[in-house]
Amino acid sequence: MENKNQLSDSVNTAIIDIQSERLITSAQIWLEVKDVMSKDVITVGSEETVVSAAKTMSENNVSCAVVMDGGSLTGILTEKDLLTMIAGKDKNFAEIKVAQIMSSPADSIGPDLSVLDASGIMDTKHIRRLPILEGGQLVGIVTQTDLARALTSYGIWKDVTEIMSSDIAAIQTKATVAEAVEIMKSRNISCIVALEGNEVQGIITERDVLKGIVALKKDPAHIKVETVMSSPVITIPTSYSVFSARKIMDKRRVRRLVAMDDEQLCGIVTQTDIFRAVKQKLLEEEEKNSRLLERSKSNIYTLDLDGRITYVNPAFMGLLDVSGPEELIGRPFLPERFFDNPEKKAQLLRELKKGRVEVKELALKTSRGRKIYVTLFSTFTKNIHDEINGTQGILYNVTDHKLAEESTTRAYRKLKKTYDELEETQLQLIQNEKLASIGQLAAGVAHEMNTPVGFVASNFQALEGYVKKIRDLLAMYDKIFGQIETLGKTELRNKTKEIGQFRDDMKIDFILEDIQGLFDDSREGLDRVTNIVQNLRDFSRIDQPGSRDEYNINKGIETTLIVAKNEIKYDTDVKIDFSEVPLIFCHSGQINQVFLNILLNAAQAIKTQERNGNETITIRTYSSEDKVICEIADDGPGIPPETLSKIFDPFFTTKPAGKGTGLGLSVSYDIVVNKHNGELFAESTVGEGTKFTIKLPIGTKENDEQEIMSDGKKNVTICE
Ligand SMILES: Nc1ncnc2c1ncn2[C@@H]1O[C@H](COP(=O)(O)OP(=O)(O)O)[C@@H](O)[C@H]1O
Ligand SMILES: [Mg+2]
Repeated sequence: MENKNQLSDSVNTAIIDIQSERLITSAQIWLEVKDVMSKDVITVGSEETVVSAAKTMSENNVSCAVVMDGGSLTGILTEKDLLTMIAGKDKNFAEIKVAQIMSSPADSIGPDLSVLDASGIMDTKHIRRLPILEGGQLVGIVTQTDLARALTSYGIWKDVTEIMSSDIAAIQTKATVAEAVEIMKSRNISCIVALEGNEVQGIITERDVLKGIVALKKDPAHIKVETVMSSPVITIPTSYSVFSARKIMDKRRVRRLVAMDDEQLCGIVTQTDIFRAVKQKLLEEEEKNSRLLERSKSNIYTLDLDGRITYVNPAFMGLLDVSGPEELIGRPFLPERFFDNPEKKAQLLRELKKGRVEVKELALKTSRGRKIYVTLFSTFTKNIHDEINGTQGILYNVTDHKLAEESTTRAYRKLKKTYDELEETQLQLIQNEKLASIGQLAAGVAHEMNTPVGFVASNFQALEGYVKKIRDLLAMYDKIFGQIETLGKTELRNKTKEIGQFRDDMKIDFILEDIQGLFDDSREGLDRVTNIVQNLRDFSRIDQPGSRDEYNINKGIETTLIVAKNEIKYDTDVKIDFSEVPLIFCHSGQINQVFLNILLNAAQAIKTQERNGNETITIRTYSSEDKVICEIADDGPGIPPETLSKIFDPFFTTKPAGKGTGLGLSVSYDIVVNKHNGELFAESTVGEGTKFTIKLPIGTKENDEQEIMSDGKKNVTICE
């Protein structure tokens, strides 16, 4: 239940806000007297005769004249005053002066009064027009007609029956004007329907009396109603709306209409009726609107043409932390203590003069010193003549949003800094891993070279011994050659026998045969060393950024195996299952690094098991339409699922400190996925082993350019 109430409360508030925002685009609510008044005022002097005043009035077809003497307002002369004069005892009015019958002192108002307040004054004082003074100067006059005209455009209207008076005074056309005036006076009405029998013939109004009697200096007692009445009567059906009735009055310049249905007199609609009804309606509207404005959560204000504040609602005051409207009303928008940036303020006021504007992000300070950010939305207000008479607007408080944005930016900067630092550290660690890798590489190479270099060296030792023996033999031959002239036959035979014995002893035939073997063997050893050096050069090929070379992954794996051999347990069975695969374009040194990292991991994983033989690493290559694929599988301990998801994370390692950096796989991932647009993933079953799959697009030499563009400096890998 509680929730339901809260909900309906917030729905109501939302509706109020929507309504008040719509309201601010409708102009009438802000109408002032100066927006609706007539500027052409008919004036007469107080020393003039009533006859000449009545003439002026009827010539100009107005119902009142403002009485001015020496530039200041002394009174007002209305049709009613003239009527009262005729109804009075003194029938000889020709010599009467305006001063004697005018209403004085006359009420007047200022031009800034609201239309509603003006109509309030008219209503309570029972007057139909108010002169408007500004600084003592007569600037206009506002009549019920003006107000009614202004206000009827405001609402959609009901039928005239709802506002007309059906209590109609009637008089026969043959009766005298004096009798008619008497009725008007006693019933305090301004018109009477003139009948002949039961038929409506015309209508006699205050104005008819003014025109037909006073202006012509006639005696009302001797003039018949039919002579001065207005005829034919302007009638309307009762189904007419108030709005249409008002328009007809305006067009025909009359103040009342007779409402008739089927020739039947139903009532009279006067301008006063319309005026009262409109005013009532407007009052209700005004009250509703101001209730809306007062309750609205939107921060609403209005300004006059000079940019001075004319209205602020409570929400607006709350926004700026002010306690009452007097702190703002009449001051320039926005007062310095809220907005002390004269340059921006001038710019803002220029903007506001443009009409419908949205000004983003003004930084303001409330009277409690709170900093707030607002977005301002403003439109023009217009008077009834469609002339701009100010602006109205809403300030949206965007402080929270703005602060959130600022703190996000700050957080981002901090994060970025941390990230940069991390990247720097990572580069250093990669460098370390690179060094470690070089160490591993050196160990592998040393091991590989040890055997051929070892047996070449022992071959050398053997050859050295053989050469010494051959040299001894040669020395014996030389000695015999030197004595050959002096030796006898028998002696020569003995010596030759001696040499033969020596040859047999030293097994010269075996030696000669073995020498050939030693040479062949040594040559093979030297070839192996040459081969290793060549491989090593291939492996550690320095990748020039921007250049990719043709690469055969089968060859790359073979080379890497040589380098990794030292780490792979001697009795591990490395099964090679190569298919013929197309050449790919890649950074060969980087790809070799990937194979090495994965092979070393496999070798290290197997070693943790302390098995006795029959360990296997299987390396398989094959190709698809546009990729070459390599699978490296081991039958090691496998990786549990919760670990498997982390192995490509930088610094993730399960190996003891000093042994693992946790970078091998993350670097490999970067090389394969980011640098070569390939795929790298692992599948594993605990207790059975792990398989890594590397997929590399065949690629072209060119696609490297893009990579450089997007990848910039990040070309650091372990083996560069
Ligand atoms: N073949 C494998 N068998 C079991 N675990 C493996 C295998 N390859 C990688 N791992 C796991 O992945 C982790 C991360 O590997 P790597 O990024 O190369 O870092 P390091 O080898 O320095 O630990 C290893 O610590 C290990 O736990
Ligand atoms: Mg590793």
